[in-house]
Order: sequence, then C-alpha cells, then structure tokens
Amino acid sequence: MQRYSQTTILLGGIAIGAGAVLVADWLSDRPSETPRERKSPPAKATEDIRNGLEECIGNTPLIRIKCLSEATGCEILGKAEFLEPGGSVKDRVAMKLIETAEAEGLLTPHSGDKVYEGTVGSTGVSLAILCRARGYLAHICMPNDQSAEKSDLLTKLGAEVERVPPAPIVDRAQFVNKARARSEEHTKSPIIPGSGFFADQFENEANWKAHYEGTGPEIFDQCGGKLDCFVAGAGTGGTISGVARYLKPHLPKLKIVLADPQGSGLYNRIRYGVMFDVREREGTRRRQQVDTIIEGIGINRVTANFEAGRPLIDDAIRVGDEEAMAMARFLVEREGLFVGSSSAVNCVAAVRTALQMGPGHRVVTILCDSGTRHLSKFWAKAGNVGGGWKMTLEEVLSAEKTRPSLPVSPSRASPFLGS
Ligand SMILES: Cc1ncc(COP(=O)(O)O)c(C=O)c1O
Repeated sequence: MQRYSQTTILLGGIAIGAGAVLVADWLSDRPSETPRERKSPPAKATEDIRNGLEECIGNTPLIRIKCLSEATGCEILGKAEFLEPGGSVKDRVAMKLIETAEAEGLLTPHSGDKVYEGTVGSTGVSLAILCRARGYLAHICMPNDQSAEKSDLLTKLGAEVERVPPAPIVDRAQFVNKARARSEEHTKSPIIPGSGFFADQFENEANWKAHYEGTGPEIFDQCGGKLDCFVAGAGTGGTISGVARYLKPHLPKLKIVLADPQGSGLYNRIRYGVMFDVREREGTRRRQQVDTIIEGIGINRVTANFEAGRPLIDDAIRVGDEEAMAMARFLVEREGLFVGSSSAVNCVAAVRTALQMGPGHRVVTILCDSGTRHLSKFWAKAGNVGGGWKMTLEEVLSAEKTRPSLPVSPSRASPFLGS
C-alpha cells in the first residue's frame, strides 16, 4: 500500500475544500429552487388591506392630463373619481350620507332600516352598493320614462326600484317627493321593520362635507399645497362647495371656476346673480331638466349644497354640448382617457381657464365618472374615435361653431341621467 507524505495529504485536503466552495457557489447561483422557496423581499412594516368596499372610497389618483397640459402650457390635473369602487364621485357622498345618518341615530345596520332617494344618476348606484355593504336596503324612485337599463342595474345591485310617472318638482308624485313620502310612510308603519331614511342629496349638507373632508384635502396634499385654480361642474353643488370651502382658507388666491353645461341657470347665477338661461324661455324648453346631453351637472334651482359654496366661486364658464363631445373624443384619441360627459365639460372649462390665466399655472379638475356610463346617450352622439384624423385642441374649442347642434331624444336617454 502506497504511503503518502503529510504534505501530500495537506495539499489534497486544501484542493477538496476549495472544490467544495466552488460547487456550493455554483449551486447557489442555479435557479434550482421553486418560486415558493425563493427568499421573499422584506415586507413593509404595515399591512395595506381595506376592510370592505367602504374603505376603498377616496384617495383617487390625481392625473396630469398630458395633452391638455402641453397644449396650454399650464399643468392640467384631473382627480380620477372614475376609479372609485362604485365608478363615480358619488361614492364619497353616499358614504357620508349613510355615516352621518348612523351617527345621528337615523340608521342602524341590519335592523331593516331603508335608505330612500329620488335619483336617476350615479348617486343611486353608489347608494345601492353601499347599502348592501353596510347592512341596509335601498329604495330608489325614478321616472318611468327612463330606460330599463337604469332600473335593471339598480335591481342587480339589490335596490328596490319604484318607477313613477314623470312630474314637475311641485307635484307630490314627482320622483324625489315620492322618495321622501315613501321614507315617511316606512317610519310611521307599525308593520314594516326598521325606519326610513330620506338621503336627500340636494339639500343634505353631509354631501358637501364629504368633499370638504375628503376630496379637498386630498387635492391639497397631492398638489403639495400648490395650485392656482379649481374647476368643477355642479349637479347638487356638493363637490364644488366642499372643495372650495376646504381649499380657499388654505389658498386665498386660488380661483374657483364653475363649469356649466348649456341650459343650466348656474352660469348666470354666478356671473349676473340671476338664475336664468335663454334656452329655458317659455316654449323653447325641452322635457329634460336641463337642455343638454350632459348628465349629472347643470341645474335650474338653488340647492343647499350649491349655496354652501356659492360665495367662494369666482367665475363660471359655459360649455356647449359640441365642445364637450369634441373634448371627450380628444382625450381618448390622445391619451386613451375615456370619460363621461360631466368630466368632458370640466376639461373644456379647465382648458379655457388655463388659457385665460396664461402658461405656468396649475389647474385641477374632476374626472367624475367613466365614459362607459354614457354609452347610450353622450357617447352615442359623440361618435367613434379614430380613422386617422387627428384633432387639435383649437378644433375642440371651436367645435361649437363648426358642428350643427344635435337634437336630444328622450328615448336615447342614458342609464345615468342626472344626479
Ligand atoms: C357624473 C356626475 N358628474 C358630476 C356630478 C356633480 O357633482 P355634484 O352633485 O357634487 O355637484 C354628478 C352629480 O350627480 C354626476 O353624477
């Protein structure tokens, strides 16, 4: 048997050790582990989990609308309310109406209490969703000439829908008055469990407070406290009032501008102190509340929520249907941003304000809901985007003069008309 010297044994040991290290290194580089076994990155110190849909409301992104910013030399920012869980800015309001009623002892979850509202718009959808999430029933009254799409959606969301004949606001059978009456009947009834709560988004000041506590502070923080102008339309007036009431004391030089569709009296209320629109003259008025295809904004009566912020509004800009449709197409064509009619009005007014103010200013507006809610009316008229024709912002702003006005047909009403 061959004998090895101590030196040979030592050198052999070193060689084996070095080899083992090399093999270990090679093995550690190999992607031999399954993804599950791979080491996870360190987790953040706090979890980010929302307790149900209610906790997903608010904190929407503020988006730089590049095509409008580049064309005006101002920074035009849109608060992306179309990303709310219920699809619109009205989620904030519905939640606040319910929370306030709970705090006042007017609603108790899972007690049979029912929320009543007269609405044909986004508020009904937000209320229907949040009532389910919170343990209530929702009862929505609407005119029976609205498309079945509207009532079908609310029914799918678990709301009771009552369709009543169209009537003026002074009529007790009008859908908002009907909702109030139904709520009172419920509360008085010894047979029906729980109580009725009439949400009353036009007059209930929990509406503007939702924006005072949420939308306003979010905009201020997202802008790092730097903005020159806030532009918004008004349906109930809750958004513009709540945001203005929060922002103005922090930014006294901030300009608040109302974006108002054709046919609405608010423009004249702000500019001249009177609630009147020439399209509302005797014999010229169509059967819609406001003579426009824009939904959700524009009104011809004073509401508590609009009055709450009216003294803070510095100016108003009237936006025609044609301009709004052109803007909506422009936003899709340039950015893939598919918005609803009130957002398009807001963007036209934001651009006009930016052009008035001059380059270097920051203008914030609201992108209230998505175009998907406006397919059967606004977008049906606005037409498709594409076909190789590139529109300019100048063309958007001159659309009112270059295209004939399209008639409004009640039979083509969208499922989300009004507030
Ligand atoms: C789509 C849409 N945009 C804008 C608004 C206007 O908001 P406010 O009621 O806060 O004035 C509404 C109101 O219903 C709406 O439905």
